[in-house]
Amino acid sequence: VRNFLSVEQFDNEGLLNLLKTAIDFKEGRRTYQSDATVVNMFFENSTRTKHSFEVAEHKLGMHQINFDVGSSSVNKGESLYDSVLTMQAIGVDVAVIRHPDRNYMDQLMNLKIQIINAGSGNGQHPSQSLLDIMTIYEEFGDFKGLKVAIIGDIVHSRVAMSNMTLLNQLGAEVIFAGPNDYFDISFEQYGTFKTVDEAVAEADVVMMLRVQLERHGSEDMLYVKEDYHAMYGLTRQRHRTMKDTAIIMHPAPVNRDVELADELVECAQSRIVTQMSNGVYARMAILEWVLKGRVE
Ligand code: CP
Repeated sequence: VRNFLSVEQFDNEGLLNLLKTAIDFKEGRRTYQSDATVVNMFFENSTRTKHSFEVAEHKLGMHQINFDVGSSSVNKGESLYDSVLTMQAIGVDVAVIRHPDRNYMDQLMNLKIQIINAGSGNGQHPSQSLLDIMTIYEEFGDFKGLKVAIIGDIVHSRVAMSNMTLLNQLGAEVIFAGPNDYFDISFEQYGTFKTVDEAVAEADVVMMLRVQLERHGSEDMLYVKEDYHAMYGLTRQRHRTMKDTAIIMHPAPVNRDVELADELVECAQSRIVTQMSNGVYARMAILEWVLKGRVE
């Protein structure tokens, strides 16, 4: 059974094949149709990932079931395993799952239904990573020597976890910046920690991260929003120090005027909306890859 769980399961050739497939879908050079049935199971909130998977599935001609956690038997105490087992039993081929447990997929590996990880706690968000590297590749055509600054709430971000691994593997130079409280020393194997001012001025890609209050547990908000923006955000003033050729990215949803100034979200150097659009094509490539590994 072929599952899409983590960026770490791909070598560079595999990654480049996936992102070229995504670009071919986007540019109309590729078509793929499947009669497989897919269920989208989101145990955490989502706008972009859930709905871009839905659009991708429609474009591939798949039969689609939306699993509504709120009205499902999860509310009677049914476990994740039993819920996915039920989907398999009724004939579903692929389950796209977002879940707060970073290791949720471990318990599902003996099932025949194929799993696509749409975000696992603070562990991995591999489909976001693929759309991020697609967006960078479209802009620069290569990763070697590219400076990518990952700035903000790094320790709580599954996007950061996936991207630091992947960008390092692809030969980009990773720079980290943000509050010390939101950084872990273990990340230094992937890149160098710098000040936000240094990171913004040096980077080819300024990747801002959302402050993930929902993952801060019982910790109080460490910063007043205005203070966070001034100390660690992409302010209008810092934006003026960026290279002319540099781009701004953010996985979204954006806390406007916290991670970056409101007016920068759709500015000329921003690729945030492009990232959202690329999500559809990256997810079509992932679905095709998974479906081609389907056991009949
Ligand atoms: N970037 C991202 O995962 O957004 P959603 O939480 O809206 O899916």
